[in-house]
Amino acid sequence: MAVITNIQDLKRIYERRVPRMFYDYAESGSWTEQTFRDNTTDFQDIRLRQRVAVDMSGRTTAGRMIGQDVTMPVALAPVGLTGMQSANGEMKAAKAALDFGVPFTLSTMSINSIEDVAEYTQAPFWFQLYTMKDEDYVRRLIQRAKDAKCSALVITLDLQILGQRHKDLKNGLSAPPRLTPKTIANLMTKWRWGIEMLGAKRRNFGNIVGHVKGVTDTRALNTWTAEQFDPTLDWSKIEKLMEQWGGKVILKGILDPEDARMAAKIGADAIVVSNHGGRQLDGALSSIRMLPAILDAVGGQTEVFLDSGIRSGQDILKAVALGANGTMIGRAFVYGLGAMGQVGVTTALEILRKELDTTMALCGERAVADLGRHNLLVPEDFRGRWQS
Ligand code: GLV
Repeated sequence: MAVITNIQDLKRIYERRVPRMFYDYAESGSWTEQTFRDNTTDFQDIRLRQRVAVDMSGRTTAGRMIGQDVTMPVALAPVGLTGMQSANGEMKAAKAALDFGVPFTLSTMSINSIEDVAEYTQAPFWFQLYTMKDEDYVRRLIQRAKDAKCSALVITLDLQILGQRHKDLKNGLSAPPRLTPKTIANLMTKWRWGIEMLGAKRRNFGNIVGHVKGVTDTRALNTWTAEQFDPTLDWSKIEKLMEQWGGKVILKGILDPEDARMAAKIGADAIVVSNHGGRQLDGALSSIRMLPAILDAVGGQTEVFLDSGIRSGQDILKAVALGANGTMIGRAFVYGLGAMGQVGVTTALEILRKELDTTMALCGERAVADLGRHNLLVPEDFRGRWQS
């Protein structure tokens, strides 16, 4: 097997091994994919300050996110349909993350259920909530996350309606895949995936099927979300959900300083600066470009994590040096999972940690907590020439 040295290597293997419709699902942005592209390329505008003759022994990438010890400032982001990238994908990714010492977030739209993951990991993880019109279902879902001892509720705010990703419509994305001549032809080239999937614990949405009244066919994600997601979610409803939960809350999908201030005001323990990996509002600015203004707006009242665009340890360093308290990765771990299952997720995390550690050393830093603007060369116009 080829020597794997970076996240892009995992992506190449992932593309070969996983059915096209699930590769496309992960690898798409909405409409023109401008925001999806900017999320990664904007990191390149920030350069690093090389420092020398600094004792670089005894380095550590460890830190804390919402009061939890982490071996590096990274959490696995909630990713829908992860269990279609690899059989029992959420269980495998959760185990790899928790063994590595970083938080795992289970999506509402997962294949494995909250209970499957809790039983497999025997350790607390974060649970991501999408609110549905069926309030009773949402109440029970929150209770299930409490019963599973989830250590934080991640409420996603940027997906009350699904951004259009052209490929998903063209591919007829569904879980499990509908058997058409096109999907059958593609599945025949993915025999390893197919054999493993035959033995999977679940092949449809484990948190939903059998739990939401009147929902029998969740396979067509786009029509299903349009029917079930609650379009009336607003700040007062978010406060009610926070009350119901009663534990740590992370508000995900914030891209504007006004919204960040609001989230801090209602007492979020952390916010996630995110544009949903470029999958929702195409034309929005990248997360890394919006980060400085959002940090200014919240002024330390809440922790700030950055998601969307992280593909290397250098990206993590840049976000943290700008002032983020941590980062979240989605595609970077999905590539590993689709390529090699649980081992692949561990490999992705090891790659990121090594890149972060080496970059810290070459920047003359020994601890994540010491990273700051002094490590970066940021162009004067990085925040952009945009006006609202
Ligand atoms: C769901 O979260 C998606 O982006 O598809």
